[in-house]
This record gives sequence, C-alpha cells and structure tokens, in this order.
Amino acid sequence: MTQDPNARAEIEPTEVGANAAETGDRQLTAEHSPETPDAYGSHEIGIEDLDFATLAEHGHTATKLDPLAPAVLSVDNLKMYFPVKSSGVVRRTIGHVQAVDGISFEVPKGGSLGLVGESGCGKSTTGRLITRLYKPTGGSMMFDGHDLAKLSAREMKPLRRDVQMIFQDPYTSLNPRHTVGTIVGAPLEVHKIVPKNQVLKRVQELLEIVGLNPEHYNRYPNEFSGGQRQRIGIARALTLNPKVLVADEPVSALDVSIQAQVVNLLQDIQSEFDVSFLFIAHDLAIVRHFCPEVAVMYLGKIVEIGDRETIYGKPHHPYTQALLSAVPDVKQAAVGGRRERIRLEGDVPSPINPPSGCRFRTRCQFAQEICAKVEPPLLQIGQRHKVACHFAGELGSHPASPVTTDLLGVDDQGSPVAGATPTNTQLTIPGYEDTWYDLKTKQTTGA
Ligand SMILES: Nc1ncnc2c1ncn2[C@@H]1O[C@H](COP(=O)(O)OP(=O)(O)OP(=O)(O)O)[C@@H](O)[C@H]1O
Ligand code: SF4
Ligand SMILES: [Mg+2]
Repeated sequence: MTQDPNARAEIEPTEVGANAAETGDRQLTAEHSPETPDAYGSHEIGIEDLDFATLAEHGHTATKLDPLAPAVLSVDNLKMYFPVKSSGVVRRTIGHVQAVDGISFEVPKGGSLGLVGESGCGKSTTGRLITRLYKPTGGSMMFDGHDLAKLSAREMKPLRRDVQMIFQDPYTSLNPRHTVGTIVGAPLEVHKIVPKNQVLKRVQELLEIVGLNPEHYNRYPNEFSGGQRQRIGIARALTLNPKVLVADEPVSALDVSIQAQVVNLLQDIQSEFDVSFLFIAHDLAIVRHFCPEVAVMYLGKIVEIGDRETIYGKPHHPYTQALLSAVPDVKQAAVGGRRERIRLEGDVPSPINPPSGCRFRTRCQFAQEICAKVEPPLLQIGQRHKVACHFAGELGSHPASPVTTDLLGVDDQGSPVAGATPTNTQLTIPGYEDTWYDLKTKQTTGA
C-alpha cells in the first residue's frame, strides 16, 4: 500500500439519518428466502484440494451477462484526489494523492461488475465514493435520475438506503457491544422501514435469509465465526432493501472453505432480490465466478474493462495479462499445460506523482516513446471490451506500432501531427457503443 502518512482526507461520514420515507416495493422477506443452505450445511465439502473453482462448483454456476440490462449506476470521469498536507503548525496542501483519476463504468441492473487490481490502485476509494463515504473531487455518478456526486449530505439521505456496502473485515465492521438484533435492527428503526413492534420479526427474517439461526438475534458478534459474522454484515446491508451493493473484498478475510459459501449466498441474494453489485476483490478466481463483467484498475485508472470471457480469455492490456499470468489455471494444470508467468518489475509508482502518459509504463515491457508522452485513451475495441494501451493486443501479438495514432492525431512517437484531426470523441463514455474500433483494420466497425 502506498499510503502517504501526511495525506489527509475530507471524509464525509455515512449517515443513517432519520429518514421517514416509506419503504419501497422491493421487500426482502423470509417467504422470498432463497434456498440458502445453512452456513455449515449442504455446501460443505472436504477440505482437501481446496480451490475456489472447486468450492464454487458445489454451489452455483457462474453468473451470466445480460447484455440488454440497463445501467443502474453510471459513473463518468470520477475523480478522488486526497490532499497531502505539510507537517508543522500551518498545514498547507503540498500535493494530492490521485487515488481515483477519471474512471468511467456502468453497473448493469441485477448484474455485477468486478473491480480488480493491485493493492492501492483505488478500488476501495471507488466503492467509498459510490456509497458517498467520500465526496468526489470530480465526475458524476448517475443513479435513479440523481447525480450522487453532486448531492449534499441532506439530499443524499433518502438515497443512502439504496446503495449499501459490505465491508471486508467482519471482525471490525460489527460493533462488539451491540447484539445482532441491534446491529441489523437499527437501520430498520432509524429509517422507519417497519413499525417498531415488527422490527424483531423482520430481523429474524433477515437472519434466516442469510442462513443464520433467527433465534440468535440476542447474541453478540464475538459469539459467531468469521463466516457467520460476514452473514450478519450482509443481513445489515440488506435491511434497507438496497438496489446496489458495494462489496469490498467481502470474502478475503474468510477461511477458504467458507469463501464459496458466502459468495454463493451473495449470488442467491442477487438473483432473488435483483440487487446489483460492484464487487471489489483481488482474487481473480472469485471475480471470474461472480462477475460477468470485470474492470481492471491500475494507479487510479481503469486500464481494461469487458465481459468475463474476453478479460480472462483474451486480455489485451499488458497489465491484465501480467495479473492473469499469476493466477494458477486449474483447467490448464489438469491437462499438463502451464501458463507462462509474466513478472512485473519494480514497485507501483506513487499516486501523488504518477508517471506521465501511460501510468503503467514504468513496469511495462512494451513501453515506447509515445507511452511517456500521451495517455492512452480507454478505447472500445470490441462489443463489450475497452482497453487503454497504445499497443493493445493479445499476448504474443502486440502490434509493433501504436494503434491509437490516428485517433489521437499524433505520430508513432506521440508528437502532434500538424493538421491532423483527432477522432477520439466516443472514448470516455461510461458504457459501450454499438460500434467500436477494430484494431486490425483500424476502422470503426459494428456487430
Ligand atoms: N483517506 C485517505 N487519505 C489519503 N490517501 C488515501 C486515503 N484512502 C486511500 N488513500 C490512498 O489512495 C490510494 C488508493 O487506496 P485504496 O484504499 O482505494 O486502494 P485499494 O485498491 O482498495 O487497495 P487494497 O487492495 O490494499 O485495499 C492509495 O495510495 C491510498 O494510500
Ligand atoms: S500504453 Fe505503452 S506503457 Fe502503457 S500498457 Fe500500453 S504499451 Fe505498456
Ligand atoms: Mg481496498
């Protein structure tokens, strides 16, 4: 993690304020409860030869992409710069941590977008921006006709219930002095979701939905295992019938044998209640299982985004290729093959002073002069595939000359060409266009 000790952020706390808005029509009820097995029930399998793919097979098949699903959340050019203050009595701003720097993406309704990347690349900051734990430095986040980025704390109150977060660490995210009944029931009371005399019944329904014993509402968090605690955290996130759940590393603190159970529970919840997910994880196997669409972040930028098959099967960005080369491929190992590991040289540069041009260039084996001069745009190169690289190509087939010159109006070294007209108009939109740039022909093409 490249956290600067001098850095200070203006953190706007999430308020579970007194909002008297009536509950919507999206009730989660025990009657609608998915066939969730108990935490230690039918999903339990032997501990030998554990890997996520095997575990997940005992639960659900991977979720599918619905290309026609509308976007529930549309994020455009989102930025979060944390001020870095000098030490001493007069603390001046001497720089900024560019934690998130102009990212755009859409979360499809009822779908899930995975966000992956190395530690410190801005994943959690993105999640915290969407849930408005932080107020963005710039950009927009359109949700239900509102731009979450622009709303005041008061205007955000009624919308907070729609966008909830599941935290990584089930040990620190639950108040140890409160019973499970209070933890799950408090938002119900504050937001007046159900009449006071029905809070307990509702808490018990929610506990049942997440596979916990409803009679355990008066126990304290320390009386539960890690997996069970995470289920409590999920129940709490569900109390307000959210439309979007930001799950920040929801299983990485859990024992591997419990991970798949919790992921399967999240899948049950997603399909049953039509909740959309922004699923943040560093484990690429879990993301492949849970997310039909994946965005890869590097140093505050999205460098590649696309459907699961493309990202995992035909990644075009050297960084994605390096990340994936480090993942043991179960299928390949079974047939005796071995994926060549790409070593990433050097450390991740500081987000306070990121490299010019392409931020990955200091660690990229394909970097050339243009990479230092011009930032590669996030270019749509397939129906559901975007990549930010001047030399985008499949592993072993990266082109010798940059593919972006005509679009940017520059020559192969990145210098502006006199009289050239850049044609990069559709490069920054959050979603996908019906036409895209064909890397082979360098022409716009369509389905
Ligand atoms: N409140 C803050 N104030 C200043 N800098 C911050 C703050 N929060 C995060 N950062 C910096 O922003 C960058 C992105 O951090 P973030 O926590 O979003 O990364 P991440 O991708 O979630 O990493 P990890 O995988 O380790 O959780 C880091 O350089 C971090 O040091
Ligand atoms: S733009 Fe250049 S430095 Fe960046 S990933 Fe592509 S080849 Fe590497
Ligand atoms: Mg994080």
